[in-house]
Amino acid sequence: MAKRTIVSMPGDGIGKVVLPEAIRLLDKVGFEAEYVEADIGWEFWIKEGNALPQRTIDLLTEHKLGLFGAITSKPKDQAAAEISPALKDKGYVYYSPIVGLRQHFNLEFCIRPCRSFQGNPLNFIRREREGFVEPQVDVVIFRQNTEGLYSGVEWTNPPPDVRKALETHVKMAKFKDTPSEDLAVSTRIFTRTACRNICLAAFEYAKKFGYKSVTVCEKPNVIRETSGMMRAEAKAIAKDFPGIDLWETNIDAQMMWLTKNPEDYGVIIAGNMFGDIVSDGFAGLVGGLGFACSANVGREVAVFEPTHGSAPKYENLDPSIVNPIAMFLSACMMLDHIGEDAKATRIRDAIAAVIKEGKVRAYDIMKLKGGPDVISQGAATTAQMTDAVIGNL
Ligand code: NAI
Ligand code: MG
Repeated sequence: MAKRTIVSMPGDGIGKVVLPEAIRLLDKVGFEAEYVEADIGWEFWIKEGNALPQRTIDLLTEHKLGLFGAITSKPKDQAAAEISPALKDKGYVYYSPIVGLRQHFNLEFCIRPCRSFQGNPLNFIRREREGFVEPQVDVVIFRQNTEGLYSGVEWTNPPPDVRKALETHVKMAKFKDTPSEDLAVSTRIFTRTACRNICLAAFEYAKKFGYKSVTVCEKPNVIRETSGMMRAEAKAIAKDFPGIDLWETNIDAQMMWLTKNPEDYGVIIAGNMFGDIVSDGFAGLVGGLGFACSANVGREVAVFEPTHGSAPKYENLDPSIVNPIAMFLSACMMLDHIGEDAKATRIRDAIAAVIKEGKVRAYDIMKLKGGPDVISQGAATTAQMTDAVIGNL
């Protein structure tokens, strides 16, 4: 078989640290691929007024698989202030390149597994009537990745025709005296197709990997139309999966329950924003940002990334101290996606062994405050974490 080509997008800050470490690990596990590096992130906003240059989109269109590190993204006014002087006031507008990738390639599923590794000191523990228990969490969140509150259809000071259209709704009456310039509107648009697709993908995953339940986590009692549509599609699809229970939770209650009985949940479906929230919630139970991996999957293209950002406060630390496991687990999701399950399993088992043994630990696993002195306190460097995983392959 011809070697695969992977588009490597380190991005900013610690993205530039963890992605090369993942490639080093992929090489050692015997995954044969070529990597083409693609430009993305703040540097390209400053230099070109575009954090997601067309050439990067072209590379992904051609090669279909992307590994992504992290990017830096800053609020509107800061983006405008930092763009290169030659491009100032020329109408450039900053857009998050990762959101841009999701939209451009319709990466409609964001899949975020949250699984505890035995022996991880960061695992959630729960107080019982007597003593404590450490529930084994094994949850996979399927978040709709392109619609809902993050679809970008929003206005401050909505134009008159938008305002007029909104006012056809009886509940707009209470805003009738608010001047448009004092009105901000962010829409939450769901399509039936996207709801159906995410529900189907979640059930198929549950079936393939033996999960007993799929939970649709929305808020249909209040957000009746959009959450209601997701719920209806989940119910319709559940009929084709007899052996798998469909549970329904509201996002607010789910955030409470996830610390009460996280071990009870399996696959979870949610719209864009609630999926963002609930996946961070579960990630916190299994080690947080150093462990949280994700896949953005579309029909053609898929991009795999840790959920952490560029952690600017650590970007210039040499040697680097950040935990590369979230990036490694994201690379494993890529291997799963292309049918290289055996290599993914070897990496995950090696990570599990490193965590269980507990001899080589990044600063976050040791619960230290990050900084250059963590190494003298016994924390492993990023490269030492990689070496330890490689040593256990
Ligand atoms: P962040 O995720 O970059 O870092 C928050 C804190 O989490 C860090 O200071 C560090 O203490 C810890 N942390 C993160 N990754 C870690 C790792 N691998 N190992 C150990 N500790 C780790 O979030 P923050 O500071 O809010 O944002 C920094 C920049 O990243 C911002 O510009 C933000 O917009 C961007 N960002 C980008 C994301 C992406 O690329 N998908 C996601 C989240 C934030
Ligand atoms: Mg998030």
